[in-house]
Amino acid sequence: MGNNKELYDRSRTSNIALLKWLDKMVDMCQPASVRWCDGSDAEWNELCGLMEQNGSMIRLDEKKRPNSYLVRSDPRDVARVESRTFICSYGKEDAGPTNNWEEPRKMRAKLKRLFKGCMEGRVMYLVPFCMGPLGSPISQYGVQVTDSPYAVLNMRIMTRMGQSVLDAMGEKDFFIPCLHSVGMPLGEGMEDVPWPCDPDNTYIVHFPEQRTIVSYGSGYGGNALLGKKCLALRIASCMARDNQWMAEHMLILGVESPDGEKTYVAGAFPSACGKTNMAMLVPPDSMEGWKVTTVGDDIAWLKPDEEGGLRAINPEAGFFGVAPGTSWETNPNAMESMKENTIFTNVALTADGDVWWEGLTKVAPEGIIDWRGNPWSPSSETPAAHPNARFTAPASQCPTIDKDWESPTGVPIAAFVFGGRRMSDIPLVYQSFNWNHGVYLGATLASETTAAAEGKLGNLRRDPMAMLPFCGYNMGDYFRHWIRMGKKLENKPRIFHVNWFRKDEEGNFLWPGFRENMRVLRWMVERTSGKARAVEGPLGWAPRKKDLDWSGMEFDEEKWNELMSIDPESLRMQTLRHEELFLQISEYLPKEMLFERELLVSRL
Ligand code: GTP
Ligand code: SPV
Ligand code: MN
Repeated sequence: MGNNKELYDRSRTSNIALLKWLDKMVDMCQPASVRWCDGSDAEWNELCGLMEQNGSMIRLDEKKRPNSYLVRSDPRDVARVESRTFICSYGKEDAGPTNNWEEPRKMRAKLKRLFKGCMEGRVMYLVPFCMGPLGSPISQYGVQVTDSPYAVLNMRIMTRMGQSVLDAMGEKDFFIPCLHSVGMPLGEGMEDVPWPCDPDNTYIVHFPEQRTIVSYGSGYGGNALLGKKCLALRIASCMARDNQWMAEHMLILGVESPDGEKTYVAGAFPSACGKTNMAMLVPPDSMEGWKVTTVGDDIAWLKPDEEGGLRAINPEAGFFGVAPGTSWETNPNAMESMKENTIFTNVALTADGDVWWEGLTKVAPEGIIDWRGNPWSPSSETPAAHPNARFTAPASQCPTIDKDWESPTGVPIAAFVFGGRRMSDIPLVYQSFNWNHGVYLGATLASETTAAAEGKLGNLRRDPMAMLPFCGYNMGDYFRHWIRMGKKLENKPRIFHVNWFRKDEEGNFLWPGFRENMRVLRWMVERTSGKARAVEGPLGWAPRKKDLDWSGMEFDEEKWNELMSIDPESLRMQTLRHEELFLQISEYLPKEMLFERELLVSRL
């Protein structure tokens, strides 16, 4: 080798650090060819065509789903793999007890062995991308080197990607190098498979001090679209800690009141717990004049502004949303967003060339092919779509997209909402007494686990600020950072906790959820401006039934009481055990969290 100078066009960028890094990557991975990605339609069509030919993609019916495709992953590669995700800081303490850690030198040696020649027989794609609007002072550049055309196509939807990014990037601009391989070199005479991957050797590795990302062996979602969880959360959370801003696993939405007053809210819910749904909420018809607009559905970058408030941008340009459960009834705006130009992964295929998944319609159409490519019928024992099946759709196609969603300075955030899936114990909504108490609510957030990551479903686990799998440093320091941000901000967002998922004794949801969540959202928004009433309880400020807007809806007083009830004794026991997580990180826990716990126990 050594002749990689001819393998790709070096005149595309004047960034010396980038060229140097690319030379090294080409040398190490030994691809058959190297290709710059420009983000054009022609490139999209060409790559989709190639993947169709390989049998990696199925083009959906052009009338029903224009310019859209179905991809089926290897059944062993269907979600994030937290057990193989590493934070390789110099010190183990810096990664903290909630992250996997390996000595950076050892990990680099391991990765070097895996990456040596790993792109043999494949194309290496060079993908320049920007997280956040191009030109925003909050945005960050990245360059992903990958041998997965699927990753390229998804990155084109999920980020600002291509030549425009190289043009905006100066000679010396900082970028985050993101190396990715599916880990299946094609030696002499070897045949490719529709979804190459290497599940036995998967590694998703972050080097927080160097601000670099290396991912091997998986082509799925957050494992492979490195701008998303790896850059915009794990690496960005470290940058945010160092520079006094915040990188959070949060949706961002705007609420417009009938008098035209606009309030922005950011909400942290663990994976597959309702961020996309809430970000695109459609208020009930009876709440006339209320409107919700969408800024983002998964990630928020928040920076303090001159007035002592927080402004947020959505670093992404698309949605990588959970398909099952999404329907014209539960989330019409998501349905509109995926009408065209969309990639569907691991959903079922209908006989007429469209897509289907559990919850899309009450009755499944006939002649379905499931996500593994086998004939399926409602009597089949396995689901038609994988529970973590996803759609990748451009945010610009969302009918409720906020007019300021690409504003370089972001939108002002008036409230944070934390929410998890809790079938028992936790009431519909309450508000923290103050910032530190709110940080405590976030820090003790818990949720029943979902299909978004590998592992057992339905276990209650602590997921502080919904960031357990995404915080790139010590969780105790992360809480400390939140407390510090509160001291810095004069105009702090108010903090709330919600639970849409409480069930009665028969296992039915006590709260209808979805559009009806607008009633709770209105109360929270009006709390931030002092318009809504509440009473003090042991958990925080809570609404009485009469404090919510019930126009057009009957809701039983008794049911309301059950929904809002708290059992002090059981909560006190839970809190004292507070908890697996607090014990795990006890030596790093800020004292403020212990005070908050004591206060809570005494209130209970
Ligand atoms: P990630 O993309 O994994 O970070 O997840 P997310 O938080 O965006 O999850 P999403 O909005 O896609 O929600 C996934 C599941 O939550 C779907 O199955 C929804 O049907 C369900 N869900 C959302 N909102 C509600 C609600 O108000 N009530 C109930 N019962 N279920 C809801
Ligand atoms: C999540 O798991 O929180 C997601 C999906 O948003 S993924 O991008 O695969 O991490
Ligand atoms: Mn997410």
